[in-house]
Amino acid sequence: MRIDIITVVPDILKSPFEASIMKRSIEKGLVEVHLHNLRDYTTDNYKTVDDYQFGGGAGMVMMIGPIDKCITDLKSQREYDEIIYMTPDGETLNQSITNQLSLQGNLIILCGHYKGVDQRVRDHFITREISIGDYVLSGGELGALILCDAIIRLIPGVLGNETSALTDSFQDNLLAPPIYTRPANYKGWTVPEVLTSGNFPKIEAWREEKAYQRTKELRPDLLDE
Ligand code: ADE
Repeated sequence: MRIDIITVVPDILKSPFEASIMKRSIEKGLVEVHLHNLRDYTTDNYKTVDDYQFGGGAGMVMMIGPIDKCITDLKSQREYDEIIYMTPDGETLNQSITNQLSLQGNLIILCGHYKGVDQRVRDHFITREISIGDYVLSGGELGALILCDAIIRLIPGVLGNETSALTDSFQDNLLAPPIYTRPANYKGWTVPEVLTSGNFPKIEAWREEKAYQRTKELRPDLLDE
């Protein structure tokens, strides 16, 4: 998989890709991440990427010109499966979207800034608009990072144990069951006996039951989906 991220603040995005699972997946060659500074696609001395809104109103708007140049340049080099715009009015990110995107080959992610992008960018270039929740960030970069992390960990080979992503919360619309590790007794707080019984069908049934109970208590909305 290849992810191209278009941003006016590439510095925000650098270090998260240099640590932990995202770093290892890049080193293993399972994913390539390329950051593109939108200012490199401007034509004036000030490297202008934004301008006032037509019709008046507070807040600057990201201009179509530099974004067109950047996306057109990338598209001339390879095919893209999705061109995603991070925006608070997009579809809210969930596990089903990250599952779908993890199966794609090449993605562009455009990070919005200021009031957002000129609507014509959305109309003519963007294939998918994603929000990470009902709150407004100062830019799409942190959303893009969350999206990348959620996608990359699902790429086969990224997580050591292939099954571990399949048992995450939200896969199958259920929260994950409680988990424990050694010691089995810590200050008298013991681990449920079934987990140390060695009876795997029983353990599986216990986990399913707990996942269902937890979901019913904490996120009953997931059971309606
Ligand atoms: N940009 C600003 N706010 C955002 C949000 N909630 N999700 C995605 N991108 C954003």
